[in-house]
Amino acid sequence: MNDPQNRLVNPQARQDETFDPALRPLRLGDFVGQDQVKENLGILIQAARQRSEPLEHVLFYGPPGLGKTTLAHVLANEMGVNIKITAGPAIEKAGDLAANLTNLKGGDILFIDEIHRLGRAVEEILYPAMEDFALDIMIGKGPAARSIRLKLPRFTVIGATTRLALVSAPLRTRFGAIYRLDYYDLKAIESILHRAAGKMGMQIDPEGFDEVARRARGTPRVALRLLRRVRDFAQVRAQGIVTREVATEALNLLNVDPLGLDEVDRRVLHTIITKYNGGPVGLNTIGASIGEEPDTIMDVVEPYLLQLGFLDRTPQGRVATRRAYEHLAIDFPENNQQPRLL
Ligand SMILES: Nc1ncnc2c1ncn2[C@@H]1O[C@H](COP(=O)(O)OP(=O)(O)OP(=O)(O)O)[C@@H](O)[C@H]1O
Ligand SMILES: [Mg+2]
Repeated sequence: MNDPQNRLVNPQARQDETFDPALRPLRLGDFVGQDQVKENLGILIQAARQRSEPLEHVLFYGPPGLGKTTLAHVLANEMGVNIKITAGPAIEKAGDLAANLTNLKGGDILFIDEIHRLGRAVEEILYPAMEDFALDIMIGKGPAARSIRLKLPRFTVIGATTRLALVSAPLRTRFGAIYRLDYYDLKAIESILHRAAGKMGMQIDPEGFDEVARRARGTPRVALRLLRRVRDFAQVRAQGIVTREVATEALNLLNVDPLGLDEVDRRVLHTIITKYNGGPVGLNTIGASIGEEPDTIMDVVEPYLLQLGFLDRTPQGRVATRRAYEHLAIDFPENNQQPRLL
């Protein structure tokens, strides 16, 4: 099986994909979509500015590739402060966090990606830091050990996670504002593509945008990635002009179907339908059947299938819906009988 990391429609960042600063919105006003989140952030920013205070701690959650990191940078820009980037798995020891914190200046932002992966001991340091802007350090060992408290400047933590459920309750309560990012609608994806195509100097007509947008799984990262592949195809095969036909041909060739599903998505659905009678079947079983990590299925396959209404999550496991059967052109078993393959 090809590495799921290399899927064209993988919403997670790929290693070779250093972010393109030219395509990244810098101000809240340039950030397309997520209107309610944007409005709330606008208020948060303005209120903090009026009081000349640092921004409150903010937590973003939602599927990968929807703009959590981008929004953290936007907030830093809007507040005119520095942002220091780190991630849960990178902060292994309490001392790593202390080093990060003592380097911050007043108002600075500490962005902690994958915050659900912070260790317990590190979290314990983070609580007083976020709440009282203080760092409790133990000095010495054994009976002579004592703790001293260091004052920190007032700073802002911006956390990001794809798994809110794994963020401990005490950590969650330290955030003044928690926002969920959701999949983008077609219009928003099209307008993101528009902006990117302009910066990339592409010739693409409205129908070409529409075709790429439909296959982008409501995810800006996927949309931009597909756009680059379509640009290559058009350059080599179509004098650089992207029409709907050109986009369709390019994306079919890459095995991205009209709804943005690729082989991995289709195999998951196929397995549930043909091997397990449409379900319910557990994630581990599905994973074992197709040789994929259950975590991968949960993080990068399932959310979009749920969003499309192709899967239902039940206490007994995952169930394929009628729409999934229709998409794969398999007869839906009306009386819960064995499905018949066309
Ligand atoms: N609203 C938007 N407008 C334009 N481009 C966007 C928008 N949101 C995201 N992008 C682009 O999509 C890509 C992914 O965004 P970003 O890295 O912020 O996602 P993320 O939610 O942090 O993902 P992950 O969970 O993998 O860290 C970036 O290249 C970014 O420029
Ligand atoms: Mg990110």
